[in-house]
Amino acid sequence: MNSNIFYSQTGYRNMARKKISVIGAGNVGASVAQALAIEKLGNIYLFDVVDGVPEGKALDIQEGAPHWGYDLEIKGFTTTKPEVYENLKGSDVIVITAGLARKPGMSRDDLLGKNVEILSSVSQSIKKYSPESRIIVVTNPADVMAYAVQKVTGIAPERIIGLGGSLDSSRFRTFLSMELGVSVKDINAFVIGGHGDDMVPFIRYSSAGGIPIERLLSKEKIEEIVKRTRFGGGEIVNYLKTGSAYYAPSISITAMVRAIIDDENRIIPSAAYLSGTHAKHYGASGIFIGLPIKIGSNGVEHIYDIDFNPDELELWKRTVESVKSGCAKVDEFLSVKKN
Ligand code: NAI
Ligand code: 2OP
Repeated sequence: MNSNIFYSQTGYRNMARKKISVIGAGNVGASVAQALAIEKLGNIYLFDVVDGVPEGKALDIQEGAPHWGYDLEIKGFTTTKPEVYENLKGSDVIVITAGLARKPGMSRDDLLGKNVEILSSVSQSIKKYSPESRIIVVTNPADVMAYAVQKVTGIAPERIIGLGGSLDSSRFRTFLSMELGVSVKDINAFVIGGHGDDMVPFIRYSSAGGIPIERLLSKEKIEEIVKRTRFGGGEIVNYLKTGSAYYAPSISITAMVRAIIDDENRIIPSAAYLSGTHAKHYGASGIFIGLPIKIGSNGVEHIYDIDFNPDELELWKRTVESVKSGCAKVDEFLSVKKN
């Protein structure tokens, strides 16, 4: 008998299925859980501090299974007691979405103080129960929170990836496709740098069907699209008023999880840790920041060192400084906590 086969209380068969845990069952967490289920990427475990919310949302997603045909186990856990996190054990991927989201007038950095506190406590549990997982950090400011998670857990940095470029590039590609009137499938473009207002949509390497966008659109139009991309998150906050985007983020996260679970070796720009030769190339060390990276079963499989022209270098230096200042605040928080 194959010992990997067992039947859960719900009667679903769990044969060597991957385990994906999502911490934070709010807008992004619940949407990503649903997207992961639809893609049948693995059993899904939702965690949240609000009593009943993760259980209710997990059951709700489970009850849609017959229509999409996902024979998965989807369970929720209220985390009022830290030992509940024991259920993280054996997670292949953990997605962290717990924390505060933006409201109109707030930047992602305004969330730093409260979110570092939340992530610091969540990270203790990850360290205790599932230090072997690959981790996707979504909570904002995501580059800085990825740094905090690494500091607290001590997990190998290449197994920690921050959400940023996957979403920002998706927005950039969407806006380019809308302007050009061509399929999004033919738009190749990416955004690097911190997931903040000074992110760097990379115009020089952007193309439609292989044709550089600089040959297809005026300088002014490109500038407009770059600006809209940089403030893409804020544009949604201004519409929603009560919170921030979650549909495009959840799809962007799902692409990253799929790249890990299916060992796809996909190039998805995301926040990765800079060290060694890459640190030298990018002129910054010991921080997480959006870079063109290859994602596979180990997490970050490769970092691509791309060259900058003088204008791009200026933009790059600016975004590095923003991320660095956030990391310094994390250091301060963690050292106060220690003492
Ligand atoms: P939300 O408010 O809908 O959900 C957050 C959830 O976290 C809530 O259900 C809350 O109860 C839970 N939570 C709070 N403290 C917790 C704790 N200690 N343990 C477990 N759960 C806890 O917010 P939403 O829209 O889901 O966003 C979540 C985070 O993701 C925000 O920080 C937001 O800024 C960020 N975000 C980042 C993106 C990126 O590209 N990096 C994209 C979209 C959102
Ligand atoms: C976004 O870009 C809130 O960071 C999130 O929509």
